[in-house]
Amino acid sequence: MTRFGIGTDIESVSRFADLIERNDPLIRRVFTPGEIRYSLASRTPAERFAARFAGKEAVVKALYDLGISGVAISAVEILKRPDGAPFVRMIGHPVDPVTIRISLSHSRDWAIAFAMAIDDADP
Ligand SMILES: CC(C)(COP(=O)(O)OP(=O)(O)OC[C@H]1O[C@@H](n2cnc3c(N)ncnc32)[C@H](O)[C@@H]1OP(=O)(O)O)[C@@H](O)C(=O)NCCC(=O)NCCS
Repeated sequence: MTRFGIGTDIESVSRFADLIERNDPLIRRVFTPGEIRYSLASRTPAERFAARFAGKEAVVKALYDLGISGVAISAVEILKRPDGAPFVRMIGHPVDPVTIRISLSHSRDWAIAFAMAIDDADP
């Protein structure tokens, strides 16, 4: 039987603009080098950081919805496929056989994410 977990999150972009402005250490604690590189290379870094933060929180909620707790947001890395679509890689906290799907959206003020965790394992 397939089991699903869902999670969502919304973040204020200005919060991340402030963190970037202050070069806050939280950025390096929460985001991976790849996420930081991608976000800072963008014309709208705060939107990218906010979307990725929302994505991490959404994944943690989706896993929790499947009964998987104790996942730190720094263990959730959000990468990009060549077509631009985001995907999730877990760092140091494998969740096999669960697969995770993620969708991000961001505008000048807000970023949102929706995640789904899918467990195809037989009972
Ligand atoms: C995907 C698409 C709908 C984004 O819509 P948008 O209103 O411009 O932007 P949103 O803020 O809602 O979403 C942006 C996020 O969509 C996601 N995204 C980008 N391309 C995507 C795709 N092909 N499939 C799913 N999600 C995608 C990304 O996570 C992106 O945020 P990020 O760059 O910070 O990671 C739009 O870019 C599109 O129609 N793309 C079609 C595919 C395409 O043309 N690809 C060109 C590159 S080959």
